[in-house]
Amino acid sequence: MHIILEKKQLSEHVFEMTIKAPYIAQSRKAGQFVIVQIDTEWGERIPLTIADADPDKGTITMVFQAVGATTKKLAMKEAGDAVENILGPLGNPTHIEKFGTVICVGGGIGAAPLYPIVQALKKAGNTVKVIIGARNKELILFEDRMKAIADELIIVTDDGSYGRKALVTEPLAEYCSQNPKPDLAVAIGPPIMMKFCVQTTKQFDVPAIVSLNTIMIDGTGMCGGCRVNVGGETKFVCVDGPEFDGHKVDFENMMLRMQAYKEKEDEDNHACSIGLKKKGETA
Ligand code: FAD
Ligand code: FES
Ligand code: MG
Repeated sequence: MHIILEKKQLSEHVFEMTIKAPYIAQSRKAGQFVIVQIDTEWGERIPLTIADADPDKGTITMVFQAVGATTKKLAMKEAGDAVENILGPLGNPTHIEKFGTVICVGGGIGAAPLYPIVQALKKAGNTVKVIIGARNKELILFEDRMKAIADELIIVTDDGSYGRKALVTEPLAEYCSQNPKPDLAVAIGPPIMMKFCVQTTKQFDVPAIVSLNTIMIDGTGMCGGCRVNVGGETKFVCVDGPEFDGHKVDFENMMLRMQAYKEKEDEDNHACSIGLKKKGETA
């Protein structure tokens, strides 16, 4: 059992939760995620990135968007409630070194998983320029936290309700065309946004790292649900990733696979039952 210590609503569908998980808090590194199971009897397993952690307090923080049955159920929990299982930290930590200048791009909810990476890149002595983009002002996340650590911060919105009216690729292209060009770009967000960020960096020959959010079931390399094509090879996002060389990722194939269980997810009020007993079913 893991007690929820704090819950904040960041926007209509986005929540931040700080949960007691001392072992994970002590060992997690930037880029890693956990698998959360709200209740073990019927609960679906969902991967969520560790957006922050406090090893002294033994807590981890997750930021999630309530998009379907399980995330909506989690959003209904309050401080003092508990989630039954948290498995992690999972996935490979972000490769951190002193690259020089790194452009970090967070789209929508992607700003939250980007935050520990920005922190770690700064700590390693990089100049870190951050671009946060969202559909509108209300969906911009982590602005203050990023401002506190980034060397530069650009906010863009699709509708121009806050910051520049642009897609994230516009300031990204501007940064990439500077001389000297950035040493690395990191992009986290919806697959379509990462795909276009990668295309932009390719034009300028800037290396790009992306963090992939595929379907995951076990999160430990056994089910194959999270497989993606990277450089012509099949990779499992849970154990080989979640971060990959963006220039090698087959985004078209990944986006198709993301839709594979959509019908199932939409059944039972969006409850995903892949690999689970249905309510009322016995083993
Ligand atoms: P559903 O209605 O079941 O699904 C909505 C959509 O979410 C689906 O179309 C599918 O694209 C995706 N999804 C559904 N089930 C899974 C699953 N088991 N694994 C992965 N994706 C799934 N979301 C956040 O809001 N914050 C995060 O920090 C975050 N980090 C992630 C880290 C990793 C490594 C991965 C793989 C995913 C991450 N996600 C994150 C996505 C999150 O796991 C899904 O939004 C969540 O599983 C949706 O579940 P649902 O039952 O609420 O919605
Ligand atoms: Fe099962 Fe990755 S989630 S192999
Ligand atoms: Mg689901």
